[in-house]
Amino acid sequence: MQNETLRPEHTPDGLQDFRPNLDPARLMHAEGALVDKYGRRITYLRLSITDRCDFRCTYCMAEEMSFLPRDKVMSLEECLRVSAAFVSLGVTKLRITGGEPLVRKEAMWLIERLGALPGLEQLVLTTNGSQLERFAGPLKAAGVKRINISLDTLKPDRFKAITRIGDLGKVLQGIAAARAAGFTRTKLNAVMMRGTNDDEFVDLVQFAVENELDISFIEEMPLGEIHGRDNTFISSEEARQIIGQRYPLVASEESSGGPARYWRTPGSESRIGFISPHSHNFCDSCNRVRITAQGELYPCLGQNDATNLLSVLRGGADDAQLRQAIVDSMGIKPWGHDFTQQMNAPQVVRFMSMTGG
Ligand code: 5AD
Ligand code: SF4
Repeated sequence: MQNETLRPEHTPDGLQDFRPNLDPARLMHAEGALVDKYGRRITYLRLSITDRCDFRCTYCMAEEMSFLPRDKVMSLEECLRVSAAFVSLGVTKLRITGGEPLVRKEAMWLIERLGALPGLEQLVLTTNGSQLERFAGPLKAAGVKRINISLDTLKPDRFKAITRIGDLGKVLQGIAAARAAGFTRTKLNAVMMRGTNDDEFVDLVQFAVENELDISFIEEMPLGEIHGRDNTFISSEEARQIIGQRYPLVASEESSGGPARYWRTPGSESRIGFISPHSHNFCDSCNRVRITAQGELYPCLGQNDATNLLSVLRGGADDAQLRQAIVDSMGIKPWGHDFTQQMNAPQVVRFMSMTGG
C-alpha cells in the first residue's frame, strides 16, 4: 500500500513541498544571533515577495514599470527556506512586503507557513490595502500580528492621482476589514509630499484617532529615478508643527526599533509617528536587513551592496551553507546610510517596490 505521507504535497510554484528542518539544536548559529561588524544584533527581516503591485504610486514607481520575469523571483518555497534560516539565526520579527505582497499568487501559502515557524515571534505585513477585504480574515488566522497600510490621502481624486490606478474606497474597506478581523494597532503609513497632501495631515490623524489606528508620516526617500523631489520634500519637524496646532502631541518613549519617533495625543490610544530618514540618524540602533523579491539580501536600505541569496539557494547550498552566506553578509552591512536632501539625483538606484520600504 502506498504511504500517503510520503506523497509530495502540491505547492503553489509546482515544486515539492519544502519542509525546513526546524530542529533548533541543528540550526542554531554558534552565537545564536546575527551580529554585524559594529555589534548591532539583527533580529528583524523585511522580505519582499513580489516587485509587482496593483498601484503605481508616483513616489514609488514609474508609470511604465517593467517587472521581473518569474524565474528571477524567489519562489515561495525559497522565501520560506530563507526565512527559516534567518529565524534559526535569531531573527524574531519578519515583515512581508512587496511591491504589494497580496498580489503574489498564493501568498497565503507562504504566510500560513511563516506563521507556524517556531521562534518567529512577530509576523507582520505591509500592504496597500487594496486586497485586504478578502485577505484580512485569512491573515489573522495565519498568525499575522499586525498590518501596516499605506494611505496618503482621504480624497478619492487625489488618491487616484497619487496611485495612478488605486481606488480609495477599496482601501478604506480593507482598513475596516482588518479591524473586523480583530487586528489591533494597525498602522497607516503616509508619505508626505508638499503641494500634494500637506493640507491633509490633520485629517489623516483624525481618521487614525477615530478608527483606533496608529499613523506614521514618512519623509519621502530618494529611491529610484521618478520625479523631481526637492520641491515636494517636507520634513517631519514641519509636519509635527502642522499637526500640533490641532492635536497636542506628547512625546512618547515607545519605539518599534525602527526609524520612527512616536507621539501621542491626549484622549487617544493612537500613536503618531514620524519617520525621518533625512533629519535623524537612526542607524546606530539598526536591527534589520532586507531581502528583495529577487533574493538579494540588502543589509542597508541606503546602500547598494547586496548578497545574492538566490544564487546561493539555486546553487544547491545546504542549510549550513545558506546560514553561512547570511552570516557572511553581515560583514557588508555598513555603518549607515547617506541620504541627502538633493533629491533629484537618486543616490540609490532601486525603486522602493524592489526593496519593499
Ligand atoms: N519614500 C518614502 N516612502 C516610500 N514608500 C514607497 N516609496 C517611498 C519613498 N520614495 C512607502 C509607502 C509604503 C511603504 C511600503 O513604503 O508609503 O507605506
Ligand atoms: Fe505599490 Fe506601495 Fe509602491 Fe504604491 S508605494 S506603488 S502601493 S508598492
